[in-house]
Amino acid sequence: MRIDILTIFPSYFDVLAVSLLGRARSSGSLQVDVHDLRDWTHDRHRTVDDTPYGGGAGMVMKPEPWGESLDAVAGHAERPTIIFPSPAGEVFTQATARALSDREHLIFGCGRYEGIDERVFDYAAELGDVRLISLGDYVLNGGEVAVMAMVEAIGRLIPGVVGNPESLVEESHEDGLLEYPSYTKPAVWRDRAVPPVPLSGNHGAVDAWRREQQLERTRERRPDLLES
Ligand code: ADE
Repeated sequence: MRIDILTIFPSYFDVLAVSLLGRARSSGSLQVDVHDLRDWTHDRHRTVDDTPYGGGAGMVMKPEPWGESLDAVAGHAERPTIIFPSPAGEVFTQATARALSDREHLIFGCGRYEGIDERVFDYAAELGDVRLISLGDYVLNGGEVAVMAMVEAIGRLIPGVVGNPESLVEESHEDGLLEYPSYTKPAVWRDRAVPPVPLSGNHGAVDAWRREQQLERTRERRPDLLES
């Protein structure tokens, strides 16, 4: 998979060099390129924003650097999926991450200030499949942190990125439920004992107990998941 990230703060993405995703990038299963949006400005101050037509608080990102940068990164073999993180978008879920992990080429456009000139989304739709995606019902200062989260959630689903694919099947949200509790040695720690079933060695009983725990936790913490 190839990922291009357009941002005015490229250094936000320095951490992509470490850990699992860093390894995936060096091994070639994932290619990530981070671009400074200001490289597509042509004035001395490298201006990316301007005042909003109609007035109002804050600044709006100008369309021209976005148009040029999208032209520059979109021109590869496959029609890209172009994602703009936005609190006004559809909510990102594990299902979204799964669907996007199949794509050949993702482009992320990180907005800042009060947002991006609306015409950019319309133009981007000529170059690829546009998605506005929200990390959740709260507001961040810009799209960078949301893109970091999405790239990690998507990247770890690409074959070869996570060492043991079994660990992907058993985690929260893959089957619509929260994950069961995990324990390791010692069997008693600070007067707290591991429950008897996981200690029993009876695989059938352990599976049934884990399923029960998943249901109980989901009912308690995220009843909305059981309704859908
Ligand atoms: N940009 C600002 N807030 C955001 C959010 N909640 N999700 C995605 N992008 C954002």
